[in-house]
Amino acid sequence: MTLELTTAGESHGPALVAIVSGLPAGLLVDRDAIDEDLRRRRQGYGRSPRQKLEEDEVEVLAGLRHGLTLGTPLALVVANRDHTNWSWGMSPWPPAGEPSGKGTSPVTLPRPGHADLAGALKYGHDDVRNALERASARQTAIHVAAGSVAKALLAELGVSVAGRPLEIGSERTEDRWRAATDTARAERDTLGGVVEVVATGVPPGLGSYADKPDRLDGRLAAALMGIQAVKGIEVGDGFALARMRGSEAHDEIEPNRSRTTNRAGGLEAGVTNGEPVVVRAAMKPLPTLMSPLRSVDLTTGEPGEALVERSDVQAVEALAVVAEAAVAWELARAAREKFGGDALADFVGAHAAYLDRIAWHTR
Ligand SMILES: Cc1cc2nc3c(=O)[nH]c(=O)nc-3n(C[C@H](O)[C@H](O)[C@H](O)COP(=O)(O)O)c2cc1C
Repeated sequence: MTLELTTAGESHGPALVAIVSGLPAGLLVDRDAIDEDLRRRRQGYGRSPRQKLEEDEVEVLAGLRHGLTLGTPLALVVANRDHTNWSWGMSPWPPAGEPSGKGTSPVTLPRPGHADLAGALKYGHDDVRNALERASARQTAIHVAAGSVAKALLAELGVSVAGRPLEIGSERTEDRWRAATDTARAERDTLGGVVEVVATGVPPGLGSYADKPDRLDGRLAAALMGIQAVKGIEVGDGFALARMRGSEAHDEIEPNRSRTTNRAGGLEAGVTNGEPVVVRAAMKPLPTLMSPLRSVDLTTGEPGEALVERSDVQAVEALAVVAEAAVAWELARAAREKFGGDALADFVGAHAAYLDRIAWHTR
């Protein structure tokens, strides 16, 4: 038994969709909680005006009755309100009538740091838009919706997951983030940063050391690295461990099996050890610049300036929410693998029986 997620949707197409399978029956899905996570994803200083336009709200098409999961695939939809401005340019069907609105002429100047060049070459697109629309971080909205459902499932086990920014630009305090963002905006530049996700109440024993794909540290790293603009991952003290001696790097085991330190970030040998799971992700500065980078026209071969499309100055606060969803999703998958069950009561019961067997009281 595991959770699976399939998504589809272009940035300016009609909607983003997800099919979530492997949920137990009887889980309460709270629409307001999902919409609140979608709202959090749009927040943050330095976001583009699109975030005001997209009042994201989740719709459910299948797998739910009166707010409770049926144990069958759950189909989620988040509409793209901006599609009304792109209804000709991003029409799924051959568009009717004269070209109007946005996206009517082909994009031929790929942006460095985006999928544009590689995507156009790989799929044989003459219009770079055919690559950039799906590669866009707009799709993180549907992942946040799915992650919200994963958090509801984890909450049944007493697990909670929270993401937060640690650094924006090279600044480490909130009061300096706005100033750094304002300066970057004024200089028509962009910033990156670092986020941290902490999961508490995680039982020992999620994931496995049996084979490489089972290791939960690797799975979490893949889930985070799969997010747009993420270029580095740390588990626990991560890169700092490389500079420590063994005698100071590990978390000694106390008589009650607890630890006084958590440098391993709650994971040893790819298995949770009962301490909070702590992971961090580094985000590169966003690649669409208002002072465009050098590029080349794919049709003429002439040098030019990369496409300028409405864009964020920085999206580190948003990444914290997206990373939280990714970690929740992967932990929920690992929990489904360990505790199984078709009905929510089976899943929760298996977890309780396991905690009894190992005489573990969630800290
Ligand atoms: C929440 C979020 C918002 C983003 N917003 C933008 C943006 O407004 N402009 C931009 O150029 N890149 C943005 N990105 C990053 C690009 O989507 C990403 O850098 C690009 O698709 C290339 O993928 P890669 O950086 O993973 O190689 C955003 C990423 C995230 C996670």
